[in-house]
Amino acid sequence: MISATNTPQAFSTSSTNRAKQFLQLSVSAWVAIALVGQWFFASYVFVIYVFPIVTGNLELVNLSKPIIGYVKGDTFGNAALFSHVIPAALLSVGGIIQLLPIVRRKYPAVHRWNGRMFLTLGLLGAISGLYLTWVRGARLSDVGSLGITLNGILIVVAVVFAWRYAKAKQFDKHMRWAIHAFILVNGVWFFRLYLMAWYVGNQGANGNTANIDGPMDIFLSFACYGIPMLIAECVFWAKRQKQVSKTWAVTVLTSMGALVTLMGVLAAIFMMWIPRITQAFQL
Ligand code: HEM
Repeated sequence: MISATNTPQAFSTSSTNRAKQFLQLSVSAWVAIALVGQWFFASYVFVIYVFPIVTGNLELVNLSKPIIGYVKGDTFGNAALFSHVIPAALLSVGGIIQLLPIVRRKYPAVHRWNGRMFLTLGLLGAISGLYLTWVRGARLSDVGSLGITLNGILIVVAVVFAWRYAKAKQFDKHMRWAIHAFILVNGVWFFRLYLMAWYVGNQGANGNTANIDGPMDIFLSFACYGIPMLIAECVFWAKRQKQVSKTWAVTVLTSMGALVTLMGVLAAIFMMWIPRITQAFQL
């Protein structure tokens, strides 16, 4: 007997819905992994940079062996560094909260104010980062700095569009640009994750140099935001598709993305952030 629930159309609709549910599940898994990684990164930035600046223990800022870091007497350069790293902690705590649907649904005022904070500090981070790199000279090599320079320029573009569409109440376009702004502002975080995941996968460096300008370093300096942005576009595209196979193909992609992020988050937590935080507490 043919009923409304076992016609070919009903079957196709239910398998499309199932595929979309799995896609959503893989995206949510990525957000949960990213939340842990982002808040660990924020804790690292807080202990290594924010706490010493607030308590006046400025030499501690150089514990993580920055490229230039804190230089006694260089008031303007130090101010640029501090205005770069202090917002980084707030960006890592606040940015991921914007992606939680419950916050958008139940606490729209939090979403609005946290969003304004994120976009403003993201812009400040991009401008101060460009200044540190090309004016203060905090770069290990010119070619190795090109990826992050493009990252900084794209942050400005994405922030302007995300803000403009929010003000115009064009929320679909706002969400698309805000997701790209989130990825771009977190480009430096993705870079650390991918680099660590690459080291773990290769059991050490492979195509990397101490100046971070080996072929793999240069590839990752662009891929750290290029790949997540491409995956985000695939998700937007998959949500508009009716064909189940296309949704499943993107679900495989997002699941792989979540897996690499998990690998990178664990490697960065245990190989980078916990050792440096522990060292700071021993001083
Ligand atoms: C807005 C997004 C950004 C965030 C959240 C951010 C965050 C950070 C953090 C946390 C550090 C300290 C690194 C550590 O101890 O491991 C740092 C350092 C640095 N960042 Fe960024 N960054 C951003 C964008 C940029 C951009 C776009 C550039 C360059 C175009 C840049 C250039 C630098 C430089 C040169 C340093 C090292 C300063 C030194 O060693 O003296 N950053 N950034």
